[in-house]
Amino acid sequence: MKGIVFTEFLEMVEAKFGYEMVDKIISSSELSNDGAYTATGTYPHHELLQLLNELSNASDTEKSVLLHSFGTYMFVTFKNGYPGFFEGFEHGFEFLKSVDAHIHKEVLKLYPDAKLPSFETRGDGNEMRMTYRSYRKMADFAHGLIEASMSHFGHEHQVSKKVLVQDGSEVEFHIVIEV
Ligand code: HEM
Repeated sequence: MKGIVFTEFLEMVEAKFGYEMVDKIISSSELSNDGAYTATGTYPHHELLQLLNELSNASDTEKSVLLHSFGTYMFVTFKNGYPGFFEGFEHGFEFLKSVDAHIHKEVLKLYPDAKLPSFETRGDGNEMRMTYRSYRKMADFAHGLIEASMSHFGHEHQVSKKVLVQDGSEVEFHIVIEV
């Protein structure tokens, strides 16, 4: 998993819970590099899961809630870091369709070792279904990113989630714009 995911995760933990919490979850996890991540490096995905577990225990917050918040937080990072990917869209659904069709493909050119989820979208008008597939099972992170995207494009929205494969590797989001 790319280092930017780790550096942003720890930054979010610091912003929401304070530096002591960052210190606490790093020292209670078994990390290969003592939590010294760089944005362009690549690190084992299980280290993120460990940090998430430790944060969930220490803050008494469900992992799904933390991952969703992390998605919302990461949206701002992407928006500031890659403004070009957000330009030229009138509608949030067009942007969401471009994640699989364009954005993540460009990400792969920049970072050939990135492991990205796949998204399948259908429907238009005021409703869209977006199916997430990834062995990393980070659908709640996607959920936060989807909601932040809809807000960014000015849509009042409801997003519901249906688990298609029990282990969380396949999840369908139903996004409805309230008019
Ligand atoms: C400019 C916008 C975006 C950029 C630059 C971007 C880039 C990235 C990068 C670098 C990763 C890490 C890959 C790795 O660690 O190997 C990632 C992962 C991910 N991205 Fe995006 N992304 C963007 C927008 C989105 C949006 C809007 C969504 C949701 C609809 C999304 C869903 C995900 C998910 C769920 C993952 C976690 C990996 C997984 O579940 O397999 N991304 N993205």
